[in-house]
Amino acid sequence: MLRLFAALVIVGLLLACFTSWLFDSYDSAWHPKQRLHQSRKTGPPSPSGQLDNIFWFVQVSDIHISRFHDPKRIPDFERFCRDTIDVIKPELVLATGDLTDAKTESKRHSLQHEVEWQAYHNVLKRSRVQERTKWIDIRGNHDAFNIISLESVNNYYRKYSANQKVGSFHYIHRTPFGNYSFICADATLTPGPKRLYNFFGIINQTQMDMLATFREESLSSNKSIWFGHYTTSTVISPFPGIRELMSTAVAYLCGHLHTLGGFMPVLHSRHQGGTLELELGDWMVNRRYRILAFDHDLLSFTDVTFEDWPAVLITNPKDAQYLHPGVEPLGRIGSSTHIRLLAFSESPIAAVHVSVDGVSLGKAFSAGGPLYVLQWDPMLYATGLHTIRVKVEDSAGRSKVREQQFTLEEDLAPSFGFMQSFILLTDHYILARIAFVVIVLLNLAGLVLFRFMPVSSTRGLSSQAWMSLHLVSKSNVFFYSLLLFNLCTALE
Ligand SMILES: *[C@@H]1O[C@H](CO)[C@@H](O)[C@H](O)[C@H]1NC(C)=O
Ligand SMILES: *[C@@H]1O[C@H](CO)[C@@H](O)[C@H](O)[C@H]1NC(C)=O
Ligand SMILES: *[C@@H]1O[C@H](CO)[C@@H](O)[C@H](O)[C@H]1NC(C)=O
Ligand SMILES: [Zn+2]
Repeated sequence: MLRLFAALVIVGLLLACFTSWLFDSYDSAWHPKQRLHQSRKTGPPSPSGQLDNIFWFVQVSDIHISRFHDPKRIPDFERFCRDTIDVIKPELVLATGDLTDAKTESKRHSLQHEVEWQAYHNVLKRSRVQERTKWIDIRGNHDAFNIISLESVNNYYRKYSANQKVGSFHYIHRTPFGNYSFICADATLTPGPKRLYNFFGIINQTQMDMLATFREESLSSNKSIWFGHYTTSTVISPFPGIRELMSTAVAYLCGHLHTLGGFMPVLHSRHQGGTLELELGDWMVNRRYRILAFDHDLLSFTDVTFEDWPAVLITNPKDAQYLHPGVEPLGRIGSSTHIRLLAFSESPIAAVHVSVDGVSLGKAFSAGGPLYVLQWDPMLYATGLHTIRVKVEDSAGRSKVREQQFTLEEDLAPSFGFMQSFILLTDHYILARIAFVVIVLLNLAGLVLFRFMPVSSTRGLSSQAWMSLHLVSKSNVFFYSLLLFNLCTALE
């Protein structure tokens, strides 16, 4: 009895240690002591009432063009390329993988269909989206199913995508006010295995070295963004790991998890180094896309749904949840003269109402394009967390309210949910390995236990099963072959 109690206490203590370690390594609130880059460039330019020092771009992910399922997916995607892109006018679009579905009709097997790729290609051509913006599409795991080598005829990505560039690359977006790096980390496997075998991506040492040179190059840009198909938790990479490589970026944009079937509608977190990891829900079912903006080198974004107008993105003051004090010039929020936001709609914008902490500040006015501005005095909000609320109305009678927190303090940032961080920041292949080892150990322990335990005399069905296990473990041939089998699978 006493022993049992002691064992329980020890297990409890171990669990407590484990959970506190978990929360510690996943609490993604910004800790000042973790700050890597002390340089806080807070000098000019400061956000003002002009349409300057700002550009915006779009991300869409997991489109899954399919010849069998959801016949609306393709026409919707065409409207997105034609009409949505026409309203937003982004400077570039990142399509982060799984362009096609590549499954058989039963959904059980994987197969590259040329017609799906042709459909994708035709949408790009018919909508002429590439004449209106820079379209960067990369591969996802579905786009690499069953591909023997990059040269194989069924590697349709080579033929039908806009980018056609297999592997990682560094694209620099140049504007009159600064240069911005976009680094693609391509972890898809070649040769591409069948379904289920490429849920994880791999970045090998050669690719790591290449990404390291991109990182060096990107240091001369104003800001850098990394993007890829896989979340970093589903990428296997050699030391020091892919997260360490991207630690000089403001954010890593990815897809792949499809909101986990609706279970996690928002999957955003922050790496230990401060880089934001922003998974985007899928186009396939949820028709999600993301609008992002660099405004005076501060990154803002909003995840929205197709044709759900108006779309609103507040760029100053930036959302407190997503600050990156290590690389962003956050002091500019405090020296800004205007609240700034982007408002997009199919119909002309009729009114933009702004309030802070429940007090109306009035109507914002157009500064050109989708930018709306309103003069403010940031020093009124020098300490603590505050809430800005913006209501945008368009002339078709639609309206949208957006509310977010902001702060002018350095060390105050709301943390991310534990589940989000757990899903995005755990190296799941390591968890899978641990689970595997535990199962094998349990197996072995069971075998050994049964072999050396005396036969019990209880009766009944369960005792018969018990008995047969005993016999198995007592018979030498069985015992050693099972033992060997267990060890082999473990060491394979
Ligand atoms: C981008 O970097 C250049 C060079 O450091 C700087 O002069 C410029 O002001 C920066 N742009 C913005 C918007 O901060
Ligand atoms: C952007 O890069 C070009 C070419 O490297 C350079 O000439 C230019 O000065 C850079 N612009 C800024 C604002 O840093
Ligand atoms: C790493 O992957 C690339 C592309 O997938 C391949 O060409 C290269 O040979 C690999 N390098 C090593 C060391 O495995
Ligand atoms: Zn997908």
